[in-house]
Amino acid sequence: MKNKIIVALDVDSEAKALALTEALQDYVGAFKVGLQLYNSVGPNIVKKIAAAGGKVFLDLKFHDIPNTTARAAEAVVGLGAFMFNVHAAGGRKMMQATAQAVKEKAAALGVPAPLIIAVTVLTSLSETELHDELGVQAPLPEQVARLARLTKAAGLDGVVASAREIPWIRQACGNDFLIVTPGIRPAWAAGNDQVRIVTPQEALTQGADYLVVGRPLTAAPEPREAAKRLLAELQA
Ligand code: C5P
Repeated sequence: MKNKIIVALDVDSEAKALALTEALQDYVGAFKVGLQLYNSVGPNIVKKIAAAGGKVFLDLKFHDIPNTTARAAEAVVGLGAFMFNVHAAGGRKMMQATAQAVKEKAAALGVPAPLIIAVTVLTSLSETELHDELGVQAPLPEQVARLARLTKAAGLDGVVASAREIPWIRQACGNDFLIVTPGIRPAWAAGNDQVRIVTPQEALTQGADYLVVGRPLTAAPEPREAAKRLLAELQA
């Protein structure tokens, strides 16, 4: 169960990130390094978290031409992340080139290939924005399912998705496909700016493989105690 919990390290300094890594790692499986931390302190934070014993999900959401994305992904293999992500909207060729480059780079370095996850439709986008601003006429569930199928066909390992999207994705892609779910709030935590939140137990019941949890742990008065409580509740 511990391995299913990924902590979002949305902080702006190496000291804060490493202190949280140290405090939480007995109770969680991995740490998510996103754009804030990465751009604040640089790529070496991935190696430092790994050196401190933590696995890293590098959440930089690559979206570029196939060659550029593939070369960036090779660099991620060198950093030692266990998971990273791209936008499925980059298309099949981009995802295939990325998967191929990762496989070859991991073999050359003699390290395990990181899992590659795609973002389908950002959960911050409403169906109205999808239609009126982006010109996508398909209903939201259909668009999410379409991009999830494309992700699977391109050979990637899974997608990031809100809990409410899980049934659409399982129907489109089956059970042999990872779903990483943010927007998680234990009953005892504040909602913050998340709108559609689910409890960790609900997300697992829906079929999430990994739960991304940030502020309920990182902003708790006692992060370690909060992580211990979350894990105990999931195991119960
Ligand atoms: O603090 P909180 O638990 O809300 O953090 C959730 C993390 O998951 C943040 O890093 C956020 O950017 C990320 N995320 C999200 N919703 C998405 C995709 C990513 O909350 N649809």
